[in-house]
Amino acid sequence: MARFSNVVVLTGAGLSAESGLSTFRDKNGIWAKYDYRDVATPEGFRANPQLVHDFYNSRRRAHAGVKPNAAHLALARLEREHAGSVTIVTQNIDALHEAAGSRNLIHMHGELLKALCALCGERQAWTDDLSVETPCPACSHKGGMRPDVVWFGEMPYEMERIYEVLTSAHLFISIGTSGNVYPAAGFVATTREAGAHTVELNLEPSESAHLFDETLHGPATQIVPAYINRLLSR
Ligand code: APR
Repeated sequence: MARFSNVVVLTGAGLSAESGLSTFRDKNGIWAKYDYRDVATPEGFRANPQLVHDFYNSRRRAHAGVKPNAAHLALARLEREHAGSVTIVTQNIDALHEAAGSRNLIHMHGELLKALCALCGERQAWTDDLSVETPCPACSHKGGMRPDVVWFGEMPYEMERIYEVLTSAHLFISIGTSGNVYPAAGFVATTREAGAHTVELNLEPSESAHLFDETLHGPATQIVPAYINRLLSR
């Protein structure tokens, strides 16, 4: 562990699957039920904003009962106990890393429990439903409120800070992501080029499994705590 001072962890939907949240590209995943163009693009939102609100409202309601699992908890423990730095870059919009106790966290695809006013740019913590009639608490205008999530065709958040941590990483761990969506899918190549040791922890080999120095396949609640225990006891 001593040689891995800076640790960067990329997480995806597979990490939260055993907490009861659906993944996207598995057989019964979200994109098997919805066309992403309808519910996760700026064009879809312009064409039918209420459909998009309904989609995220139901995900926000489903989030109310979920709890972090053993893999989220192991990552929070890594941050607490590792002598160097641990940064989690998550593609997940759920709040399970925070609930587990992770602090150094970047939500590159935004957050389900926040709303953004497209008219004034203000962000708010948000646990209720949103609709086209919801007034912005900051500017009072209706019609601009949207979930604070990054849709296809939009720029993920905090890319500058993310590339800073990626290029100074000694260890890069990718967990529960299929490696289909860029820029996150390219992080393994970036960290490899910067000299990091790269590890994939996923249910099955991802699209980019061949790019990792080490791969471990199985359910996140088993392989993540086991891998982190080994790392911390080195
Ligand atoms: N443990 C570990 N991995 C799992 C588990 C589990 N219990 N269950 C599923 N997985 C793996 C799947 O095998 C798959 O490789 O998690 C991965 C989930 O992949 P996706 O559904 O594609 O999710 P993700 O990679 O996070 O998607 C990226 O796509 O639509 C967008 O914005 C959305 O952030 C999301 C992005």
